Amino acid sequence: MVSQKTIEIVKSTAPILQKQGKEITTRMYEIMFQNHPEVKEQFNMSAQADGSQPAKLATAVYAYATHIDDLPALKSAVEKIAHRHVQTHVQPEQYPMVGECMLQAMQDVLGEVATPEVIAAWAEAYQALAEIFINREHEIYEEEGVS
Ligand code: HEM
Repeated sequence: MVSQKTIEIVKSTAPILQKQGKEITTRMYEIMFQNHPEVKEQFNMSAQADGSQPAKLATAVYAYATHIDDLPALKSAVEKIAHRHVQTHVQPEQYPMVGECMLQAMQDVLGEVATPEVIAAWAEAYQALAEIFINREHEIYEEEGVS
């Protein structure tokens, strides 16, 4: 699990994420579709255009920032997202790419607020969240007999 220091730093960024979360996730999709256009086929692009998917991701990231030390509170959200990921064939290998785009987006939007310490904390926190999704999605893929 993540270190106590990471928990503190990530929680301290929650107010920023509440305010600028959607700006960050909008930027993250921009970077991802630019650098990895092949993932576009997994996404409903109209949910990008109307901003609903960036809004959902921003809500999820904010919820994680506030509950990083109380993961059971995230269970139903994780469950819903994991099922959507399986429906759209998200693979474990895609998580590092999304993480890189997310950290780059934080840097682009937050500028100097995204200190190396903040970025390092979010890198560790993202990794931990990615593992939760990867494990749960693995179970769902197995239950459904697809992988
Ligand atoms: C920790 C990392 C991630 C978080 C927090 C996250 C969060 C979310 C959320 C909140 C949704 C919306 C679920 C709903 O409609 O109820 C979603 C959907 C989706 N995610 Fe993720 N996700 C993550 C990683 C990934 C990765 C690695 C991929 C791979 C490309 C991915 C691809 C998708 C796709 C394709 C959808 C469906 C979008 C659509 O309907 O257009 N996600 N994710």
